[in-house]
Amino acid sequence: MKKWMIAAGTLGLLVSAGCANNESGENGAGGNEESSSGSSEENTEESQEDPENGSEETTDANKNDGQTEPGEAPPETSEEGDLKNPSAIDALINREYHLPADYEPENLVIPDVAFPFEGDLQKKYMREEAAAQLESMFAEAEEEEIELSAVSGYRSYDRQASIFAANAEEDGEEEANKYSARAGESEHQSGLAMDVSASSVGYSLTTELGDTEEGKWLEENAHEYGFVVRYPEDKTEITGYQYEPWHVRYVGEDLAEKLHENDLVMEEYYRENK
Ligand code: DAL
Ligand code: ZN
Repeated sequence: MKKWMIAAGTLGLLVSAGCANNESGENGAGGNEESSSGSSEENTEESQEDPENGSEETTDANKNDGQTEPGEAPPETSEEGDLKNPSAIDALINREYHLPADYEPENLVIPDVAFPFEGDLQKKYMREEAAAQLESMFAEAEEEEIELSAVSGYRSYDRQASIFAANAEEDGEEEANKYSARAGESEHQSGLAMDVSASSVGYSLTTELGDTEEGKWLEENAHEYGFVVRYPEDKTEITGYQYEPWHVRYVGEDLAEKLHENDLVMEEYYRENK
């Protein structure tokens, strides 16, 4: 894994470059990120596109990293909906539970996995613990002759804002809301999400991925590495987003196992445990 050591000035340039791609509507392996493609089944690149739990009982785990135990309440937020513990591995991040605008994860690294493009780009990064598990997952897939490709990981708050704006410009705000999160509402800002694709679908972020052996492998195996496919086809009313077979979110192995075994998305899990 490559450590996150980009100075603020350099990061600004990278972010600008990403947004420029986005605005140009470039598609394909060069920069495929969540954008207007959810519905069109082709995502433009940087037209791309990241809570917490307060509980009365505190375990050693959540003393250390804020991880929530089953049965605990949903995340504590400010009145504005900003998570009080945005760095929790199991943070619920959606339209209701937001990452603060100034939240930037620590320990961002580039996972040693295949990407369909070159360069030291912000979107290659993930939080170290998620990156390590992504590496294990990709390695096991390869063992089974399944070739996965990482397409879009960490996005800063500002970059997500640019991506949403570009998508809204392209498709209109109502349509963009179905596949693209607003700044502060995207799991990508947490450094715990990665969009995954495959050469069989041209490395695009398309619902067709769900019908491929790579997409099926991801759906069946991601939980063993602590990931969940966050926006399933049959939960769009609950998650508020269309089907995204490509978007995996690291939540830790215990929670991933619970969600997978009980066929729950995070919104249901926290609701059921209120
Ligand atoms: N496509 C997901 C919802 C995001 O923009 O984070
Ligand atoms: Zn995503």
